[in-house]
Amino acid sequence: MKFSISKTQIILVVFMLIIETIVDASPITKRQSGGSHSGDGTYFNPGLGACGEQDNDSSMIVALAAPDFDPSTPNGNPNKNTLCGRGIRIYYNGKSVDGKVTDRCPECKSGDVDMSPAMFDTIADPSQGRIPITWDFI
Ligand SMILES: *[C@@H]1O[C@H](CO)[C@@H](O)[C@H](O)[C@H]1NC(C)=O
Repeated sequence: MKFSISKTQIILVVFMLIIETIVDASPITKRQSGGSHSGDGTYFNPGLGACGEQDNDSSMIVALAAPDFDPSTPNGNPNKNTLCGRGIRIYYNGKSVDGKVTDRCPECKSGDVDMSPAMFDTIADPSQGRIPITWDFI
């Protein structure tokens, strides 16, 4: 049997899966590592968002990536997207900031979050422009 997997390998894989499950379930680990989604954090100048709300640079709001936002848009009307108004917590470098979903980011990849300047400034220096974040809905 050329391709047989040894008992030791199976035991090792099962053991790793168990450890991973325990680590994932631990609230302490979760808090340290941040949210369960990840992507790039960027910022933009909010205006009239896809959810139909008028925002500005001081608003604590985000635009979710189109591939994450669009599946929750019913009948092609983004104003009625069920993620509109949803709370979000973003983690970066030991810091976190809370905001609200009010817009859609057409150029973002799944997991990316485009933030208002006020939100971005809370967790990073604007000169950084693009930062690796993790996040969760809250
Ligand atoms: C900015 O938008 C927020 C809502 O996100 C609003 O409460 C606030 O009044 C606006 N500020 C200005 C200066 O328009």
